[in-house]
Amino acid sequence: MRYVPLRFVKSGMVLGQDIYDGAGRLLLAKHLLLNDEYLNSLEVLGFPGVYIDDEYSEDVEIREVIRPEVKREALSIISKMFVEEEDTFPGGIDVVVSKIVDNVLDNADVMCNMLDIKKYDDYTYFHSVNVGILAAMVGAKMGLLKDQLMDLTTAGLLHDVGKKFVPVEILNSSEKLTDEEMEIIRSHPRLGADFIREKYAFSSYVNQGILQHHEWFDGNGYPLGRRGEEIPVYARIISLVDVYDALTSTRPYRSALPNSEAVEFIMGSGGSQFDPVVVDAFIHKIAIYPLGSQVELSDGRQAIVVKNDSKMILRPVVRVMGTRTDLDLANDPEARNITILKIII
Ligand SMILES: [Fe+2]
Repeated sequence: MRYVPLRFVKSGMVLGQDIYDGAGRLLLAKHLLLNDEYLNSLEVLGFPGVYIDDEYSEDVEIREVIRPEVKREALSIISKMFVEEEDTFPGGIDVVVSKIVDNVLDNADVMCNMLDIKKYDDYTYFHSVNVGILAAMVGAKMGLLKDQLMDLTTAGLLHDVGKKFVPVEILNSSEKLTDEEMEIIRSHPRLGADFIREKYAFSSYVNQGILQHHEWFDGNGYPLGRRGEEIPVYARIISLVDVYDALTSTRPYRSALPNSEAVEFIMGSGGSQFDPVVVDAFIHKIAIYPLGSQVELSDGRQAIVVKNDSKMILRPVVRVMGTRTDLDLANDPEARNITILKIII
């Protein structure tokens, strides 16, 4: 299986992974033979790329930390929560949170190979679910216990629930926001924390995680302007994975950053925007060059990433495009001078 940006996907390619929308509904199933009609729909729906299976990548298995059905269940709950008119909360969030945490703990040795397959319009739901999952992975790496991971994941899934009260024109605006609009956006952590506190009986850690997810480690964030360890650890984790997932997503006002550049930004912001301890846990969990991604090598060839090692994150094993030749960038003597220039997205 490999990831192909939509503009390079051709009729006749075989889908390697189910595709679903932001409500968790299946749109196209794995093994489907793609044709022009499907490709048009994918483009209209705003998918930036898909996983496909072909003879060069059929043996590249991408072990997922979270089972697809758990992810779909989480999407379904979160999307209902955002669109429901009255302030009722769909049941089952505890159940899905517990499944996410169990999957994360069972797959503690698996690195996260996240590539953007979000449907553009449903960004908020995909983003919320990704933040919950990534937060759980980073929290587990930092040694948090299961109960703590449950609260952390709940806060991650719900961190932006306050955006439910912000007009969608402001949220999706591609224009520069006015000061007043900016203030409205910046009210979402408090609106979300108030909403959750009034309606539901989560622990205060969940509320604090939501309230403080835009605080900065150096004190330059909002709404409280807290710094360092005054900010609860859940909020410090959510703030980092929130920015990472947002940077690697296509938004109305900019295109997605390649994974490697987003990770570089996160690393460069340790100590200012982010807690360096959280940054350290994060970079041990996230694949800079995700499995199945297409990369350009310094010798001009293109290749697919087929194996990652958390100790050699910049030098994975790659397969030269269109061949069965694998290059181990960490260990092959003849690959010593070859570097990865960029991921193709
Ligand atoms: Fe937010």
